[in-house]
Amino acid sequence: MPPSRSLARLRNGLIVTAACLGGLWLLIYGGAYDVGADAPHYELVSWLLGIIRQRSIAVRSADIALPADLGDPQRLAQGAALYGEMCSGCHLAPGMEPSEISQGLYPRAPDFRQGTGLRPQQAFWVIKHGVKMSGMAAWGVTHSDELIWDMVAFLGKLPSFSATDYRAAIGNAAEEHEHAMHSTGRSAPGESRQ
Ligand code: HEC
Repeated sequence: MPPSRSLARLRNGLIVTAACLGGLWLLIYGGAYDVGADAPHYELVSWLLGIIRQRSIAVRSADIALPADLGDPQRLAQGAALYGEMCSGCHLAPGMEPSEISQGLYPRAPDFRQGTGLRPQQAFWVIKHGVKMSGMAAWGVTHSDELIWDMVAFLGKLPSFSATDYRAAIGNAAEEHEHAMHSTGRSAPGESRQ
């Protein structure tokens, strides 16, 4: 190829690169991307974030060991109270109308009355570590692994609860939560790395 042709190609390449960088600059510094929670992501961004999220959770939860006593009725009872106190405002529960926060969140918090569609290990990982740039907090910062497994156990059974069963199961959720946070014999928050 004559040198003039390859120079022209190089110049065209530089122009395209500069145009792309300019576009990116406009998108970022020009405030073109709407970060408002009432405007959905572009489809490409949604798709990319969806894959990143799904793979991150699947890979990070792969080696977590299930506790043998996940079906223990005591776990379910404790998990119900914790869920009623901390989670139902966003994820809803049997007999509940959509809350104000559940309607305004983006991404929306999944409604667990239809189940989670997650393996228990994946639910454990998400509850413990949370999800960046969503309303989902890292509950492992303040709650032990044991308490998180209690919530996982309850989530597995939630779809089978009627509104009456649910109300009975959560009992006095605020008091139960307070008690669970101060009871002994549970591992401390952040103790294990799983
Ligand atoms: C302030 C609202 C809010 C509260 C409170 C909240 N969550 Fe979430 N949660 C979310 C949102 C939003 C997502 C979706 C995150 C995403 O998809 O990126 C989510 C996702 C999850 C997921 C993953 C669901 C899936 O299908 O991938 C689990 C499991 C979960 N939450 C459990 C809980 C539990 C248990 C509690 C209570 C300890 C709780 N959440 C409290 C907002 C909340």
